Amino acid sequence: MTECTFPEGFLWGSATASYQVEGAYAEDGKGENMWDRFTHANKKRLNGINGDIASDHYHRYQEDVKLMAEMGHNSYRFSISWNRILPEGTGRVNKKGIDFYNNLIRELRDYNIEPNVTLYHWDLPQSLQDIGGWENRDTVDAFLEYVKVCFREFGDRVKLWVTINEPTYFIYSGYLRGNYPPEAKDFRRAAKVLHHVMLANASAVKLYRETGMDGKIGIVHSFEPVYVLEETEDNLQAAEIADEIFNYTILDPALKGKYPEKIITLLQSNMDTSFIKYGDLKIMRENPVDFLGINYYTRNIVQAYSGNETELVANNSGERKKGASSKIRVKNLFEVIENPNGVYTRWDMEIFPDGLYEGLLRLKERYGDIPMYVTENGVGLVEEIVDGIIDDQERIDYLEQHILAMKKAIDVGVDLRGYYPWSTMDLYSWINGYKKRYGFIFVDYENNYRRIPKQSYYWYKKVAQSNGKYLLNK
Ligand code: BG6
Repeated sequence: MTECTFPEGFLWGSATASYQVEGAYAEDGKGENMWDRFTHANKKRLNGINGDIASDHYHRYQEDVKLMAEMGHNSYRFSISWNRILPEGTGRVNKKGIDFYNNLIRELRDYNIEPNVTLYHWDLPQSLQDIGGWENRDTVDAFLEYVKVCFREFGDRVKLWVTINEPTYFIYSGYLRGNYPPEAKDFRRAAKVLHHVMLANASAVKLYRETGMDGKIGIVHSFEPVYVLEETEDNLQAAEIADEIFNYTILDPALKGKYPEKIITLLQSNMDTSFIKYGDLKIMRENPVDFLGINYYTRNIVQAYSGNETELVANNSGERKKGASSKIRVKNLFEVIENPNGVYTRWDMEIFPDGLYEGLLRLKERYGDIPMYVTENGVGLVEEIVDGIIDDQERIDYLEQHILAMKKAIDVGVDLRGYYPWSTMDLYSWINGYKKRYGFIFVDYENNYRRIPKQSYYWYKKVAQSNGKYLLNK
């Protein structure tokens, strides 16, 4: 057995996002965001489920931070709700919103927990969505106005910033698959949004550097490395374009300041690309991110397109093979298939830790020695309290395999600096609601949101406090 210690100063944390944990959706001057609007307008479809209260973290942040500290955390990844800071999206600053994050940051720092702060985790102000959201280039300016306030108010104590969480995933879900707001299915709109989001990312990096602050700023990507089962020429070609769409359309502009050639050709032959203005790529080229945040849940196995229309379907039922099942087929390009020998979750996610190891190596090969953090990784489970205990051995097994995959990558030279499993506590899982639980800490929604550490909480504490050595004795 190899010794399992991680580099000195390695960050052991966990992650959440504002809309998914805070609740207090209309409190202390917070404005309405697009998820407030979407969940309230879709009561029937979402079974009345929304993030109005979520994990009630807004009121319980002190208790939550204490639990993190006791779990051995030396870092915590969370996001700021744009609407708490600027209730109308631009203009007026809401002091109570600033106070909330100042209190949270103070609490974290009192326990020596390094805040890792995401500026945008999908909760766009509704006022901006009303004028076209990310399709409207003015949203880039609005974003910069908001991040400027964040840098000014929190920048002296926050040294790790993330511009945007998972552009691929929220654009895919909101503009292609159509199951997230604004529920569009239009690749031309998606392409425009993508460019504006990547421009917002580079412009925020530029702004941060101009402040002269001494922290680091990165982007978080939903990394799904692409594989084939059979290495035929057709499959490999399909995999190449799929990899560019899923991964490099985000990572190349963030790190190299350009879009992959094939993607540009694909866009130019299908649409007017004049929304890519003169100077945009220069901003991207001159402002690469300092680090990559990698969210790794699964890989994608791809094969050559075999016919029929594009089909993009999510399994939000959590009932594998019964009812809705996930499907990705992109007409004329590729289709995603399952591994006949794979282990899958109830939500159709293949559990494949090797993909994290190999994926990190692929990134090192493509981008050199870029510092990386695994900013999300985890498994959704349906859980209950039995005799006062939440036995989530499945989560422990999942995380352990992924930690060992990270260690393997570090051993061959990947500059990996931290690990943030998703999620700190149970939270609102977008349109999967609350039954899909990810937390180290159980939230008892039926009983005044009380917190109960799961078995994985005690396990992670040992891993974090020993800087990974605990896994050696397993
Ligand atoms: C990531 C997001 O895509 O996956 C999180 O950054 C999200 O916000 C997580 O909750 C898990 O996805 P889901 O749909 O199971 O909640």
